[in-house]
Amino acid sequence: MAITSTPALLINILLSLVLISSAQTCLKYTFPGNQDFNSCIDLPVLQAHLHWNYLPSTRTVHIAYRANQTSTGWIAWAINPTGTGMVGSQALVAFYNSNGSLIAYPTPITSYSASMQPGALSFQVSNISATYIHNQMTVFAVLGPLQNETAVNHVWQAGNSVINDIPSSHTTTGPNIQSMGALNFLPG
Ligand SMILES: *[C@@H]1O[C@H](CO)[C@@H](O)[C@H](O)[C@H]1NC(C)=O
Ligand SMILES: *[C@@H]1O[C@H](CO)[C@@H](O)[C@H](O)[C@H]1NC(C)=O
Ligand SMILES: *[C@@H]1O[C@H](CO)[C@@H](O)[C@H](O)[C@H]1NC(C)=O
Ligand SMILES: *[C@@H]1O[C@H](CO)[C@@H](O)[C@H](O)[C@H]1NC(C)=O
Repeated sequence: MAITSTPALLINILLSLVLISSAQTCLKYTFPGNQDFNSCIDLPVLQAHLHWNYLPSTRTVHIAYRANQTSTGWIAWAINPTGTGMVGSQALVAFYNSNGSLIAYPTPITSYSASMQPGALSFQVSNISATYIHNQMTVFAVLGPLQNETAVNHVWQAGNSVINDIPSSHTTTGPNIQSMGALNFLPG
């Protein structure tokens, strides 16, 4: 009995160690080009992760939103300064333009049928860029100076297609309507 249960116990211990160490997989992710982010969270849906650095002296936050996506799809991440859902959110979107360039830009989501075209956000945003590596699309940006608290509501999204260089509407069931939450840019 003891002889047969020992390997099983060992396997269980090893398995739980693997599960514990993979609890925040984002911590192990290395960005190319010496980009370091101090904080990150694995988001609960859409195979997505948010990495960031908050700089108190300038009240700016450098973010990287990273999600699994096909090369024909799009990703978006947003802060909603006025509510919790999609409408009112101040978004960053990334996708492959039909000319073959991976592009990223800000777009305010003013309604459920937002244009998804480039536009100014309600706060400053700069240094927007994107990468596509190992089937993951990432959008980078510097937000701020932020006027408000560091605690924000955020929303993230993904869609399967881009038509005429505009992201098409996303699925409105399951994970795509659970992709919102609250976070604080201050560490701890
Ligand atoms: C800060 O609050 C103002 C006024 O409510 C809003 O317009 C702005 O978008 C907010 N900024 C952030 C980053 O939440
Ligand atoms: C492709 O189009 C985008 C959006 O208009 C533009 O920013 C980018 O420079 C273009 N890329 C090339 C290679 O022309
Ligand atoms: C934005 O990009 C410019 C040019 O690459 C760089 O000099 C600057 O430090 C960046 N700003 C921030 C806040 O990272
Ligand atoms: C998401 O992408 C990562 C990095 O390429 C990969 O390791 C992982 O298996 C992907 N997850 C799914 C569910 O496809």
